[in-house]
Amino acid sequence: MIVKGNLIDCTDKCTIRIREKSCILIKNNVIFNVYSENMLPELLKDEKVVDYKDALIFPGLVDMHLHAPQFPFRGLGTDMELLDWLNTYTFPEEAKYKNIDYAKKAYTKFVESLKKSFTTRAIIFATLHKEATILLMDLLEESGLKCFVGKVNMDRNSPESLIESTDESVEATKDWLDICKGRYKNTFPIITPRFIPSCSDKLLKELGKIRGSEYGLQSHLSENPKELEWVKELCPDSFGYLDAYDKRECLHKSRFPAVMAHCVYSDESEMKLLKDRDVFVAHCPQSNICLSSGIAPVRKFLDNGIKVGLGSDIAAGYSLNILNQAVEAIGLSKLYWRYIDKNSRPLEFAEVFSMATRVAGSYFGKVGALEKGFEADLLVVDDSALNEGIDDIRKRVERFLYLSDECSLVAKYVSGEQIL
Ligand code: GUN
Ligand code: FE
Repeated sequence: MIVKGNLIDCTDKCTIRIREKSCILIKNNVIFNVYSENMLPELLKDEKVVDYKDALIFPGLVDMHLHAPQFPFRGLGTDMELLDWLNTYTFPEEAKYKNIDYAKKAYTKFVESLKKSFTTRAIIFATLHKEATILLMDLLEESGLKCFVGKVNMDRNSPESLIESTDESVEATKDWLDICKGRYKNTFPIITPRFIPSCSDKLLKELGKIRGSEYGLQSHLSENPKELEWVKELCPDSFGYLDAYDKRECLHKSRFPAVMAHCVYSDESEMKLLKDRDVFVAHCPQSNICLSSGIAPVRKFLDNGIKVGLGSDIAAGYSLNILNQAVEAIGLSKLYWRYIDKNSRPLEFAEVFSMATRVAGSYFGKVGALEKGFEADLLVVDDSALNEGIDDIRKRVERFLYLSDECSLVAKYVSGEQIL
């Protein structure tokens, strides 16, 4: 099959690449090659062409961090900081997923919305409930999206309604991984200790063992000052928050690296460890604004060669649209430069676009670019409401980044399959 339109993606040098009126040849879910309109080889003249005319075609976007069970209360409770927000809004909502009927209703709505969004791939927290987590994974599998999903682990400092014993947590995790084996094509389990305050040392070590060399791991890191103080008290053996995960054997090399959300307060030594352990940072700017968490030093992460993707962090962030996260990442980086560090140059358009596509895509394999050998994740966008009188595609792309809510998603392909 050939898909035709105006192609926009990011190169491995982090520059925006625009190929007007070009053709993507897709074979076996993968981009076999890209041709300009009049360079299509004779051999392909009979191939089926889907011509999207003047539409913009982007790689699918990746949401590196979000909480599916928090979808029902997004946009509420942003008057609090992290720890109060968790106790007041988050834990009571997540406790409801013990009830599988509630979970089914809520997760169905979540998956429908994610399917309609610009996201093609995501790395998702569920709750500690094994059954509801499998249900979420079944729904995601059916949607055609490609996702990592974690059954959450929490065995301390949590309410009665949302806690497991250490042994229960370990056993449920093993059972869950067994159920997942052979069940899915598009959905992958990922080990998910909530954060240090809700996981005992013993639990973290056991999860590290279960992770082995096969599974990825996701968690939260250095999000809020009170949280950091608490982690210091809980882990007197450690030099810092990431070192606490490291000393509890969670960060060893594996097929899939660890993903840490936030990293707002990561200092130089934490950055060094992030780099040494090949950790992906999930930068969640909207969440960091809503919970008054702070501004992550993203320019420093990039200067240190740390991989950074973007996360909506639903429901601390309120929008599933990763482009909104990209815009806010730029905005926060400008404030960081203005108020905190004149050596931290603001993020550029190409950099945040790369975070949302190519960099985060690399967690999934060859994903996130319109390039030979990459899986065919495509977004076809009609920006006609915005592009009147503009014949420069770069300007159209820039407006789309800021005003995507005024554009429509015409089609969405994940790994060569059209799902919208
Ligand atoms: N830290 C531990 N749990 C959570 C959560 O659900 N959301 C956010 N933003 N931070 C967390
Ligand atoms: Fe989170």
